[in-house]
Amino acid sequence: MKIAVLSRAPQAYSTQRLRAAALQRGHNVKVLNTLRFAIDLTSDEPDLHYRGRQLSDYDAILPRIGNSITYFGTAVVRQFEQMDVYTPNTANGISSARDKLRANQILSRHNIAMPPTAFVRNRADVRPAIERVGGAPVVIKLLEGTQGIGVILAPQVKVAEAIIETLHSTKQNVLIQKFISESRGRDIRALVVGDRVVAAMRRSAAGDEFRSNVHRGGSVEAIELDPVYERAAVRWA
Ligand SMILES: Nc1ncnc2c1ncn2[C@@H]1O[C@H](COP(=O)(O)OP(=O)(O)OP(=O)(O)O)[C@@H](O)[C@H]1O
Ligand SMILES: [Mg+2]
Repeated sequence: MKIAVLSRAPQAYSTQRLRAAALQRGHNVKVLNTLRFAIDLTSDEPDLHYRGRQLSDYDAILPRIGNSITYFGTAVVRQFEQMDVYTPNTANGISSARDKLRANQILSRHNIAMPPTAFVRNRADVRPAIERVGGAPVVIKLLEGTQGIGVILAPQVKVAEAIIETLHSTKQNVLIQKFISESRGRDIRALVVGDRVVAAMRRSAAGDEFRSNVHRGGSVEAIELDPVYERAAVRWA
């Protein structure tokens, strides 16, 4: 197969690992810079140019679209989809996962348990929303953020209100979410390929941090997933 990894970071560990795995399986693989594509809507057939030249034929892409280029990156992925090039992550899937509110709405529609979460805009609705999800301490999240950035734990209702008001005044939308204290800074990340979990790890936050993200200093260990968790992860994906 001829595979393109869409990435702006050819030297990044994840890009290199994907490349090595593809080569090991005898595939032809290229790393293409997502931002160097041009979407061409002039001809009848959907088309893409790369670095100013018509793109050659690919069988599959592996999108590695960073948070800062979601809009352009998903447009490129959508174009590949329209050209019938296989992608494990669709443009729709990537967009849904990027937006925490949208992701929660989709999950709740499919009966997947989530911490009680609220989304409000008017100042008068903030306090009732905090109370409805269980009061303080409460988690406040920017809709778009990753690596734990923009995820705040407010110890008191007054502090939570002040933070939310400040964020609203800078035109930032936020989610209000029940703090799951029993997680104690630990969570599980499962990697799903198709309809099965191929690997899982437990992430543990550093010190008194409540966020388990590796970028916030969290540590990780490989684990065997319980079948119950495995089924949940597959349904989630
Ligand atoms: N409601 C909560 N209760 C307890 N801990 C939480 C809660 N929400 C988030 N956390 C902790 O904070 C971390 C970061 O939160 P979250 O995963 O929502 O944001 P992110 O990692 O920045 O974004 P994304 O996962 O979409 O890339 C989680 O991994 C978890 O450890
Ligand atoms: Mg996360």
